[in-house]
Amino acid sequence: MVRQDCGSCHGLTLQGGLGPALTPAALRGKPSEGLVATIVHGRPGTPMPPFRGLLDESEAAWVVERLVEGFPADGGPAPTQQTVGAR
Ligand code: HEC
Repeated sequence: MVRQDCGSCHGLTLQGGLGPALTPAALRGKPSEGLVATIVHGRPGTPMPPFRGLLDESEAAWVVERLVEGFPADGGPAPTQQTVGAR
């Protein structure tokens, strides 16, 4: 979902496009609350749309965590947490 919806503006590899890059290097040092607010409410006056309705704050926070950690390059395997939890 992040790759498709966000990738349409931020680039399929999240290196940037219409919107800025969402890579760990680009996001380093930015407060995650601000990034979460950007995702939930959008940024007025820019093409960044609000995702409330699609994502609530905790889901947006999850997305930010994943982005800061580095999103898997190929959409890769499910998060290890789930793999571990399944055992
Ligand atoms: C319609 C195009 C569009 C879509 C879709 C979009 N964005 Fe954005 N996004 C932007 C633009 C443009 C900006 C830069 C806003 C500005 O100039 O401050 C931005 C900014 C951001 C920022 C702040 C980055 C920073 O360095 O401060 C985050 C985080 C972000 N987007 C995450 C997302 C996520 C996650 C999604 C998918 C749920 C998404 N965006 C979908 C256009 C988009």
